[in-house]
Amino acid sequence: MAGSTLEIKDLHVEIEGLEILKGVNLTIKGGEFHAVMGPNGTGKSTLASAVMGHPKYEVTKGSILLDGEDVLEMEVDERAQAGLFLAMQYPSEISGVTTSDFLRSSINSLREEGDEIPLMQFIKKMDETMDYLEIDKNMAQRYLNEGFSGGEKKRNEILQLMMLEPAMAILDEIDSGLDIDALKVVSKGINKMRNEEFGCLIITHYQRLLDYITPDHVHVMMQGRVVKSGGPELAERLEAEGYDWIKEELGIEDETIGQNA
Ligand SMILES: Nc1ncnc2c1ncn2[C@@H]1O[C@H](COP(=O)(O)OP(=O)(O)OP(=O)(O)O)[C@@H](O)[C@H]1O
Ligand SMILES: [Mg+2]
Repeated sequence: MAGSTLEIKDLHVEIEGLEILKGVNLTIKGGEFHAVMGPNGTGKSTLASAVMGHPKYEVTKGSILLDGEDVLEMEVDERAQAGLFLAMQYPSEISGVTTSDFLRSSINSLREEGDEIPLMQFIKKMDETMDYLEIDKNMAQRYLNEGFSGGEKKRNEILQLMMLEPAMAILDEIDSGLDIDALKVVSKGINKMRNEEFGCLIITHYQRLLDYITPDHVHVMMQGRVVKSGGPELAERLEAEGYDWIKEELGIEDETIGQNA
């Protein structure tokens, strides 16, 4: 198997009647790392939420296919079972559910009934992964994300990624709020996932993450569309020059969506 392929075609998404995504096209194959950059408010998180099936985001046109299967027909849990994973820009706090319980039930929800992960195997894997990500073991028994610092939440998202081993992951600003050492650890975790089958979409504002994780493709989102794609050099140019040159090149006057719609 050569991994999964996620195909997003002419995706239009509305939130409460306002069109946010206006025809996104993006294909990610297993083994590839894609970075999506773009000014604030241009629909990057909306794209991530729409792929995962957040109920607030209404797909009005276009398609999302995973290995040819219609993702839009799937419930959120079915999307996860199909191999999709989202690390949210703002991870939710889940009071009353420990990180350990959350991870275990998440893993089991991806397995067949009657084929639950053996407890010892789970604990070993969690311990090893927490060591790898230099996460304090106490975190396993704390309620998920409750009272976690910004950086701890991001590290915990990568713990989930490494424990769940999805086929296709979207990481939304996984680098925001990380200190310099944490950025290295989080990058190390993402790079550990790299193999011929795993596909990844990394939403970021900064080149510094891409210094550690080299993307195969870089895309720029503006006004609810992917307006430019290239290689790692595109991210370097954005870091150096900002977005004005792309706006000029494409004749875009205002990158915000709300005002423009
Ligand atoms: N639940 C919502 N209700 C109303 N408007 C929303 C909602 N979610 C997003 N929007 C609007 O949709 C637009 C795109 O938001 P989105 O979060 O996708 O941007 P983004 O590209 O991820 O920005 P950032 O770089 O700041 O994270 C924004 O104008 C935002 O205000
Ligand atoms: Mg966002």
